[in-house]
Amino acid sequence: AKLHTGERVAVKVQKANVEEIVETDLSIMKFIANESDRFNTSFKHLNLPAVLHEFDKSIHKEMDFDNELMNIRHLSDNFKYNDKIIVPTTYPDYSNEKVLTMEYVEGVKLSEVIAGDDPKYNKILIADRIVRSYFQQLFIDGFFHADPHPGNIFVTDDNAICYIDFGMMGVLDEEFRQDLAELMIYFSDRNIDGLINQLIRMDILNEKTDINILKSDLNDLFAKYYGVELSRFNGIIEDLLFLMQKFDVRLPNEFVLMARGLSMVENTGLRLDPDIDVVALLKPFARKLMVQRYNPLKMANNAKNSFFAFEHVLRALPSLISKTIYKVEEGEVTVNIEVKHISEIANQLSLAIIIAALLVGSSLVMLIDVGPRFYEMPVLGFVGFTISLALGVFTVLRYFIDF
Ligand SMILES: Nc1ncnc2c1ncn2[C@@H]1O[C@H](COP(=O)(O)OP(=O)(O)O)[C@@H](O)[C@H]1O
Ligand SMILES: [Mg+2]
Repeated sequence: AKLHTGERVAVKVQKANVEEIVETDLSIMKFIANESDRFNTSFKHLNLPAVLHEFDKSIHKEMDFDNELMNIRHLSDNFKYNDKIIVPTTYPDYSNEKVLTMEYVEGVKLSEVIAGDDPKYNKILIADRIVRSYFQQLFIDGFFHADPHPGNIFVTDDNAICYIDFGMMGVLDEEFRQDLAELMIYFSDRNIDGLINQLIRMDILNEKTDINILKSDLNDLFAKYYGVELSRFNGIIEDLLFLMQKFDVRLPNEFVLMARGLSMVENTGLRLDPDIDVVALLKPFARKLMVQRYNPLKMANNAKNSFFAFEHVLRALPSLISKTIYKVEEGEVTVNIEVKHISEIANQLSLAIIIAALLVGSSLVMLIDVGPRFYEMPVLGFVGFTISLALGVFTVLRYFIDF
């Protein structure tokens, strides 16, 4: 369509009776899911009712164009400094729940670029841009297009990428992104122990999983890909998802969305550029996340947060200790140790509290931007931190030597 102001726009309009049809279909599907779950044990592990519950949620989101408009704006904001990744401008005044008006994208569908061989398009460059922009969504922004197939991506004349169709987006929080990056590194290194430990840390595997069988299955899986370059995930992600199903593992929904999107994007990348090294493109993103996770300032910040959670315990502790000692002295508590020992323990406790306070205090100082800096860290805080850490280690060591 064309606005009064002359701009060309694309208008997405929802069909009039689509909601009714969806509701009917959903209730039929739910009925079947519940019954088969009840009567057929071989379906149980698929957990069909839960799957349908997720589907119910996501299809309703997709039918709500207000939601899609917000998604477009969010993604557009994430790519505002990259003029090679385009997200259409929206027109909220001409949009509502059932009508979505956005900038008309001048370009061709990626599926056509893949199929044809117009020299106007630089397939290698396009592949690189798509894969990188997807990694940014997954690992940096944690907000990603969940359906990035070549029909939902446009290419413009200067090889810029334009995403469309934002009904379904995935969200990954920072901790999950860091876990995921670590997982991918183990994955691309074919490090089975690392992979399993990471899956346990992520709560994906639990004590019910038979780790030994899983290990041997993973060995088989990687053996199947033996000799395949370590430069791509190529089918292995789908195989891993399938393997997880066999182990009755409940994968988080976002994990499945992410894996699906990633393998779609990798496939597209490979079809555009058979020599693309997806893993090499992944590494800088993973490294950035690892640096974030193990950054001392970040760790100090975490220490500060846990300090506030722990502060009331610390505050109550001295009076608790003196009360206990008082009661012991008053003979209210019958314990079979001499009071001499109690005061020794109290001393140790006080020492521990002082060290803890020093540790937290210097962590706080590290966060404040004062004094000279050494490797980006304030010297004052760093020195305090080191001293209290050493004292802490000493106290713990003495504890072990004494007992
Ligand atoms: N901003 C746009 N500019 C140009 N064409 C568009 C635009 N948005 C959608 N289209 C066209 O409309 C089709 C359907 O849009 P899409 O958002 O993918 O809907 P659906 O959710 O039904 O897949 C697209 O495949 C594309 O051809
Ligand atoms: Mg579409």
